[in-house]
Amino acid sequence: MNAVKIKEDIFWVGVNDYQTTLFEGMWPIEQEGVSYNAYVINDEKVAIIDTVKSIKADEYIEKIKSIIGNKKVDYLIVNHMEPDHSSGIIELLAEYPDIKIVGNKKTFPIMNNFYQITENLHEVCEGDTLCLGKHTLQFFMTPMVHWPESMVTYDTIDKVLFSMDVFGSFKAPVGSIFDDENDLAAFEEPTRRYYACIVGKVAGQALKALNKLGGIEIGTICPSHGLIWRDNPKYILDMYVKMSSKVTDSGVVIAYGSMYGCTQKAAETLAIALKNEGVGEVKLYNVAKTDISFIISDIWKYKGLFLGAPSYYGQIFPKMANLLYKLSEIKVDNHKVGFFADYSWSGGADKNFSAFIECAKVDVIDEILMIKGTPDEQDVLALNTLAKEMAEAIK
Ligand code: FEO
Repeated sequence: MNAVKIKEDIFWVGVNDYQTTLFEGMWPIEQEGVSYNAYVINDEKVAIIDTVKSIKADEYIEKIKSIIGNKKVDYLIVNHMEPDHSSGIIELLAEYPDIKIVGNKKTFPIMNNFYQITENLHEVCEGDTLCLGKHTLQFFMTPMVHWPESMVTYDTIDKVLFSMDVFGSFKAPVGSIFDDENDLAAFEEPTRRYYACIVGKVAGQALKALNKLGGIEIGTICPSHGLIWRDNPKYILDMYVKMSSKVTDSGVVIAYGSMYGCTQKAAETLAIALKNEGVGEVKLYNVAKTDISFIISDIWKYKGLFLGAPSYYGQIFPKMANLLYKLSEIKVDNHKVGFFADYSWSGGADKNFSAFIECAKVDVIDEILMIKGTPDEQDVLALNTLAKEMAEAIK
């Protein structure tokens, strides 16, 4: 895609990345890619908002030049230092060495750590403004959403919010960057997966940031990933408020691991029982086959959660341990949770589940159901009871 006009003087100069297979080195994006959005404000002074990942810097600089021609760039606004937005700075400075870099007091030490850049820095604080000519930019700090130095930039004239990671999503827009020219339903899951995996741990801070931004008039939202919200910014605002407030829908996720089918049989029995109880959507995931980012995305969405795993050398099935680690981090304290653990001789999975319940302050619906080998009639009855208890709990 070429550079895209958003407002009279404001242009998208971002890029789509289909080359990176794992975002942050761990979240799969090879199917739908991700965009790194950056913007140019072509005023008397030229300001660029963020760079892009360095692997796409040439394309980004080409787009900037297609807008400003031979003009110089006066300011680079660094809303966020994570390298998916900042690593193109080396190439940008090579092209425009006199650029003044705008950030806050937490931006520049991180910039020095990553890129050893210590000159031409312009520090801004909460509410500070920067006049470009017709346009005046205002800066708001949004610490820990996603990093300590994170901030957003607001164009006070056109009411455009350059919101950095906030309101972002996985999935690179194809053909158009605008909300009114895309199928929003197709972005719902990538937005939630992005939120749950990247922002979920700091949902509290995200909610504070959203409350702060609620005080300004927003006409257009320009995030660092995903769609530009020019038609219906309320859609993504509402979605982010819901996710940050941890409001869930009716439904249950069952995430299980299984070595020889015993725990899988228990999970499937539970799924049928839950359906019969009319709990709404039931999602069944094998943690060894589905990347945890997709499982976490659905866990963020649905109120009920079952976790089931076999024991493995006196501990829990390792792929379930990985999910428990991430769930401890993002917290599932707004969920109702049930557990089932399979074993052959001495157990072990139950110990890890117990530790998780304790440390993550989980609201459990019943004791951990212990199943020895293949679920027998008694186990099936117990699984049906668990399904009934879950249905009651999430009503
Ligand atoms: Fe898209 Fe936190 O960087």
